[in-house]
Order: sequence, then structure tokens, then C-alpha cells
Amino acid sequence: MAFLDKHKAIETHATLLLVLSFLVVTIGGLVQIVPLFYLDNTIEKVEGVRPYTPLELAGRDIYIREGCYGCHSQMIRPMRDEVERYGHYSLAAESMYDHPFQWGSKRTGPDLARVGGRYSDEWHQDHFYDAKSVVPESVMPPYGFLASKVIDGRYIQDVMSTHRIVGVPYTDEMMENAVADFTSQADPNADSDGLQERYGEAVFGNAINVRNFDGQPALTEMDALIAYIQVLGTMVDFSTFTPDASR
Ligand code: HEC
Repeated sequence: MAFLDKHKAIETHATLLLVLSFLVVTIGGLVQIVPLFYLDNTIEKVEGVRPYTPLELAGRDIYIREGCYGCHSQMIRPMRDEVERYGHYSLAAESMYDHPFQWGSKRTGPDLARVGGRYSDEWHQDHFYDAKSVVPESVMPPYGFLASKVIDGRYIQDVMSTHRIVGVPYTDEMMENAVADFTSQADPNADSDGLQERYGEAVFGNAINVRNFDGQPALTEMDALIAYIQVLGTMVDFSTFTPDASR
């Protein structure tokens, strides 16, 4: 049993055991992880998933700045209780343009991956001003101050070009019209045809929400945040979606 004797040598030398285990785990890890970077279908392309519009992107930055992820996840796991509560489990493609992704790991509040369209803008306004006014037992802090922070999108082009560097396919036309698209999304009287053409139905299969999200004349951070919240989880049409069975 020469082989077992050699194994005894490993088992009785802690350092040797540590070094060899490390090697084995490293090789195993590489075999599992490296192919994911090369396989084309690691992230299955799914119809409807599009880059965020400039206003939604600004809302997403506010979401991150305010630390909403500290209490909210955006990842519905494929388990029955989650799917029954929140809707279809999250697809990888749904966060393919999220840099960084907002999956989160803490649920003081509910998962928000499919909260888009579930409540009216007015509900969100009330909820952000004072969550207890709509959900009496809520511990969510107030965010009413966002409605007095006026924004004009002057930096949004820079934000978009940063996202472009990490792979979000913003076109030159989207970049050139960034500020116009930013303001027209929150103004139902503005001409938003260009916005629809660049991000909407004809290109990605869904119309863009264009309205006065915060219900007051000025374009504010509240507009951007609600525009972002209202698009979450709404890009993929799950009545027609069928997972790629070949994988
Ligand atoms: C201290 C934890 C906490 C923080 C921070 C927080 N929330 Fe919440 N949130 C909650 C809790 C708890 C609920 C459930 C009760 C309620 O609806 O108010 C909730 C509910 C919600 C809902 C309704 C979800 C649903 O399906 O009913 C939305 C939307 C929401 N939060 C958005 C946000 C956004 C956006 C931010 C950041 C600006 C944020 N929350 C920050 C705790 C938090």
C-alpha cells in the first residue's frame, strides 16, 4: 500500500496538506469559472432588455447614492416563495447593463427587481415623502428632499460614456441627445419622439415611460428616481419569454 503511505505523508503535514488543497481548489475553480468568460451564451440575450435612458440612469445613481441597496435587493431567486411574491425569477440579462449590479444581499424591505409598474407614481411620491402614510408599519426613511433637488442632466453624457467604456451599447446618437432625452422623458409636453426612437418600441420592444414622475413642474431627483423604479423588471415580456432550452 505504497500509495496510502504517501497519502499519510500529506495528511500528517499540515503545511503540505494546505498547499496541495490550495492547488486542487485553484484548478477546480479555474475549470469552473474561466469558461464563463469565453462562452457566448453565459448571458443569454433577451428581447426587450435595453440600456437605461439618461433619466433612468440618473435615477439609478441616486438609488446608489442614497444606499437603497442597503435595505433592498434586486434579484428574485428561482424559488417558489420568491416567484409567487415577486414574479418571474431574475434573468442574468436583466442586469447586463447594470454597472455595478444591484442584486444586493440585504432585505430589510422587499426585493425591487420587479417593482416597476406595480404602483402609481403618486404612490411612490407619497411613499418617498413618508412611507408610513401608505404602509403604516414601514421603517423606510423619508426621501422627500429629493423633490426639491432640481437637476438638469449636465453631467449625464459623462456618466453614459463611462458606462460605454464598460460595455453598455450607447450609440453616438444617444450620446449626442443625452441632455434632450434626459429632460424630455419627464415632460409630457416636450417632443419625446427622438427618445422613443432611440430607446423605445422600434429598437428594444418597449415604449419608454414619458411623464411628469414627481407631479411638480421642476425636473428633480424625485423624477429621476421614480423613472428608474418604474422601469425595474418591466423590460422582458414574460408572457412570450421562453428560456433557451439548449443550455
Ligand atoms: C432602512 C431600510 C430602507 C432603506 C434605506 C430604503 N428602504 Fe425602501 N423599504 C423599506 C421597507 C421596510 C419597505 C417595506 C414597507 C414599505 O413599503 O414602506 C420598503 C419598501 C419600498 C418600496 C415598495 C416595495 C414594494 O414592493 O412594496 C419601494 C419602491 C422602496 N422601498 C424603494 C426604496 C428606495 C428607492 C430607497 C432609496 C431611496 C429605499 N427604498 C430605501 C426599507 C428601506
